[in-house]
Amino acid sequence: MFHITNFSEYEKAYKQSVEEPEVFWKEIASYFQWNKPFTKVLNWNFNEPKIEWFIDGKLNITENCIDRHLPSKKNAIAFYFEPNEANGVRISVTYQKLYEEVCKLANCLKSTGVESGDRVCIYLPMIPEAVYAMLACARIGAAHSVVFGGFSAQALKDRINDSACKVVLTSDGAYRGNKQIPMKATVDEALVDCPSIEKVLVYKRTNQAITLKAGRDLDWETEVNKQAAVCAPTYVDSEHPLFILYTSGSTGKPKGVLHTTGGYMVYTAYSFKNVFQYNENDIYWCTADVGWITGHSYITYGPLLNGATSLVFEGVPTYPDAGRFWKIVDTYNVTHFYTAPTAIRALEAAGLDFVKPYNLSSLKVLGSVGEPINEEAWHWYNTNIGKNNCPIVDTWWQTETGGILISPLAGITKTKPSYATLPLPGVQPMLVDDKGNEIIGNNVEGNLCIKFPWPSIIRTTYGDHERCRQTYFASYTNLYFTGDGCKRDENGYYRITGRVDDVINVSGHRIGTAEVESAINMHEAIVESAVVGYTHDIKGQGIYAYCIVTGDYANEETLKKEILETVTKHIGAIAKPDKIQLVKGLPKTRSGKIMRRILRKVAENDFSNLGDTSTLLDPTVVEEIKKGRV
Ligand code: PRX
Repeated sequence: MFHITNFSEYEKAYKQSVEEPEVFWKEIASYFQWNKPFTKVLNWNFNEPKIEWFIDGKLNITENCIDRHLPSKKNAIAFYFEPNEANGVRISVTYQKLYEEVCKLANCLKSTGVESGDRVCIYLPMIPEAVYAMLACARIGAAHSVVFGGFSAQALKDRINDSACKVVLTSDGAYRGNKQIPMKATVDEALVDCPSIEKVLVYKRTNQAITLKAGRDLDWETEVNKQAAVCAPTYVDSEHPLFILYTSGSTGKPKGVLHTTGGYMVYTAYSFKNVFQYNENDIYWCTADVGWITGHSYITYGPLLNGATSLVFEGVPTYPDAGRFWKIVDTYNVTHFYTAPTAIRALEAAGLDFVKPYNLSSLKVLGSVGEPINEEAWHWYNTNIGKNNCPIVDTWWQTETGGILISPLAGITKTKPSYATLPLPGVQPMLVDDKGNEIIGNNVEGNLCIKFPWPSIIRTTYGDHERCRQTYFASYTNLYFTGDGCKRDENGYYRITGRVDDVINVSGHRIGTAEVESAINMHEAIVESAVVGYTHDIKGQGIYAYCIVTGDYANEETLKKEILETVTKHIGAIAKPDKIQLVKGLPKTRSGKIMRRILRKVAENDFSNLGDTSTLLDPTVVEEIKKGRV
């Protein structure tokens, strides 16, 4: 049964999903339109890893997102578009309009030479065209690689080149609060060194001045308007790539997480329906950006696969003031609101005067995603936004998991502040110690692994399968390792405590410390750096950088400013350190390994239990670091 409506149905579904996973998922998959039925539900081994779902099946995900709904929902709203400027042009996109826009853009992509199996880079603001773009790629079997608009030219270039994208879809600029951000100029800078790119389609959003390169750059509207509003879906294998999304890990450059079609479709649709308990006529709003996995699974695919009506918002929570979210909820009678703890904490800090003017009585379900939600923020959200009347779904998942794995089902699972609670059907969590021994029983804590595949699990890291194996499947035999620490309470509820690797979660954005370090080291005055996370009231975690400088720099203030500029250039403003401490040395073992534990403690202003520092190469650096803490 696709829709779970009470806790005993959840228990029954969960039990079946573990005891007879193939029977369970076969039934769920039967709710979708397959051009050719699959012959086998699952093939898997976590050692290679090789994971295949709904084998031999052929389908097109956009047919399931759009065409399938047209007979009953042609004039129903797929999504409302709320622009950055509260008095800007609002748009209502019906399923029929969505169909036409997607078909035209799909035809346009074909006319630029994009074929099934090609990769297309999407670098766009949060406008309807971003959703059309993803679906247009999927319509013709091309894999999209959406790059968040806040990434720099360098970061964009690395991502385009890693997967050899053929076309970039972008805009002239983007509105973000009271700022206007260049997009095309950033693309131009990236493309100086992207040999695979043949065409760039540029949507005019801000009308700021841009240059178009003859033979390469095309005006979006001119090209799209030439096209027919019908485009037959390209049927692809269930395991055909749907998209690549780059995400940071503890080492090296960001990796391209690859998701495929059939399993991703089934799981995002199933999890959306059951976690949010979305029903006909509800208005769902997820405030994420399409540049992150939340935007893929729970703005674009999950809601549309369910024929839902949602909201796409271009702006930011604090513009024109900190009441913007609540004003939008009031205006559109939003019933389901899904956001990140960092936004909740920022709006809490702005004060209740920004909440009070608005009628929030339409709300039925609240969601949280991206990082652990602290109890205080949970209660503030529950009391002031949900008015103690809306279940909060604290949804734990990752770019690699494709969909929500551990979460309450709204109104069905009893919630507990800061707990993601129970696994969804099909998800088998396991806690292990550092040696990989299973930690059984309740009231325990360990590293979170999953022991059986679910349909939207990562298939590979693009172009480097061995990296996928190493990162997720090699730490513990026969287990998918999440990189998260986790508690299980007396009732078997799960609480994610945060990353156990060198990944920091800044405002819900995943940032690899190694990546920030290599950006900082690009500055010629820096010989070495070490980056750690520390507790930050609003962002969850902040970035603390310890930098060893060579002799030559003008003064400390200028150097720190330049370091920030260097990071912005190489990654983007989201990875800028919050604190920079210039040091003479780093605490290293005799074998040269940086003792990050010490650096984390100093960053947290906790000088207790620094451990035995006498074995360090140079024990005096610890004292220096403690004294110079910023
Ligand atoms: O540490 C976990 C945290 O975010 C990481 C995944 O980041 P990303 O791939 O960018 O995806 C974010 C959106 C799904 C996880 O390893 N995380 C995500 N959701 C939660 C969370 N931590 C605690 N509670 C959550 N609900």
